[in-house]
Amino acid sequence: MNHPAIRSGAVAVITGAAVGIGYAIARRVASEGMNVVLFDRDASALDVAIKTLRNQFPDVNLLLIKGDVTSESDLHHLYERSCEFGEVSLLVNNAAINTGARPWEGLAQWRTLMEINFWSVLTLQQLFVDTMFSQSGAAAIVNLGSKEGITTRPGNAAYSLSKAAVKVLTEQLAHELREKVGDRVTAHLLIPGYTFTPMNFPGMTRDTKKPDSPWTADQVADRMVEKMAEGDFYIFCEDNEASWELHQCRMQWAADDMIQNRPALSRWHEDYADEFTDYIADIVHK
Ligand SMILES: NC(=O)c1ccc[n+]([C@@H]2O[C@H](COP(=O)([O-])OP(=O)(O)OC[C@H]3O[C@@H](n4cnc5c(N)ncnc54)[C@H](O)[C@@H]3O)[C@@H](O)[C@H]2O)c1
Repeated sequence: MNHPAIRSGAVAVITGAAVGIGYAIARRVASEGMNVVLFDRDASALDVAIKTLRNQFPDVNLLLIKGDVTSESDLHHLYERSCEFGEVSLLVNNAAINTGARPWEGLAQWRTLMEINFWSVLTLQQLFVDTMFSQSGAAAIVNLGSKEGITTRPGNAAYSLSKAAVKVLTEQLAHELREKVGDRVTAHLLIPGYTFTPMNFPGMTRDTKKPDSPWTADQVADRMVEKMAEGDFYIFCEDNEASWELHQCRMQWAADDMIQNRPALSRWHEDYADEFTDYIADIVHK
């Protein structure tokens, strides 16, 4: 049985829904009979997405909204149109960009990235939560995190920071929702692994061959629906390169940096390279 927010006839709102994971989630929830609002700044990709979905799911209502998550008026427009469309039971804050910026460089790039990856999540959350409270049915908010927001590998500081912020925000949201309405409105952090999408394969087309390592976006969408049904908050996706056990080791090592007073990001520190390799070997290969 699905999470009660994923139900036929209710509305799912998905940002960044034209391609990649957002599109896969749109298709997955449409297959459950949900009516879907697809929001994206890429009008031509949205057109393609909606045509395919209309062919596949003729009985489902689809609303396409072109807009940019950095525009507060576009987000208000999305909110208003979505509420007119039906009872919104699922909000998926998926749109994000992944452009590197070092801690001491690219202030404008940092601002844009945080506008897209963090502020839009907070804004939409704030718009939709009250509506979800006022409705009688179950509802859920899924925010897209990343392993880069947990183990925060070096070289991609702005993205890692944005995803760490989304993780904390979603944890806080989940707790506050639980205190206020029990499990009628829930929050979930979806953490994809390495996934075959335009983010990692810019310019990919239907004919682009998937390499072995990444998961497909459909696998991520399936994992989301499966784990929401089980009531999970952290919805973790491994990939074909790194197992769940390896990810557990990496997360444990990162948490232990502070407890053991190691240097920041010691996993990538040359003095700790052998120790980390042994640690992984002990746990993953035993
Ligand atoms: N692909 C991965 O390996 C991976 C791994 C971990 C987390 N994630 C997260 O999953 C989510 C989806 O990733 P993806 O790989 O499908 O991304 P993608 O780049 O393939 O697709 C992102 C979509 O968001 C839209 N978008 C971007 N900026 C926007 C804006 N300002 N306003 C409106 N729409 C905008 C794009 O047009 C595009 O349709 C992101 O939050 C990403 O950080 C992805």
